[in-house]
Amino acid sequence: MNMHKYEKIWLYCGATTLLFFLIVVGVSAFYMGNKPPSCAVTLDPDRVTEHTLFKEPGLKQVGDNEYQLNIVASAFNYDVGTDDKVVEIPKGATVHISATTEDVIHGFELAGTNVNMMLEPGYISTYTNTFKNAGTYTLVCNEYCGVGHHIMAATIEVIEE
Ligand code: CUA
Repeated sequence: MNMHKYEKIWLYCGATTLLFFLIVVGVSAFYMGNKPPSCAVTLDPDRVTEHTLFKEPGLKQVGDNEYQLNIVASAFNYDVGTDDKVVEIPKGATVHISATTEDVIHGFELAGTNVNMMLEPGYISTYTNTFKNAGTYTLVCNEYCGVGHHIMAATIEVIEE
């Protein structure tokens, strides 16, 4: 088969690029242990409050400057474990967030950070974030969930130690 020189070059480019990306994915997956984000952690949406994570929502210290924050969303509220819906986190802390919903799909966007999840009934959404900057961050629902959607919010305050 007679192939044009440029066509051969392009084929080599394509094959090399493919090989390169396969190696990157392979090293990332098998050597560095990276996995795609997963929503495969399930729970019974009718018995959220019986789940060990969500019996008592709120912030718990789990290590040196490391916290677990469990939040239950429902129309139109985030249960963050405090009456005023404010969570105080020390600056620089690493926080493992676990959240779920008791009823419909809600959003979970912590404005000004990379925390942005969808909360689906029957699933636990997780995200780990290190709060490097002090300030007030608003947790907002960014999935339309009903007539009170626009008032669904809570506050994360990152405070200087
Ligand atoms: Cu909850 Cu919109």
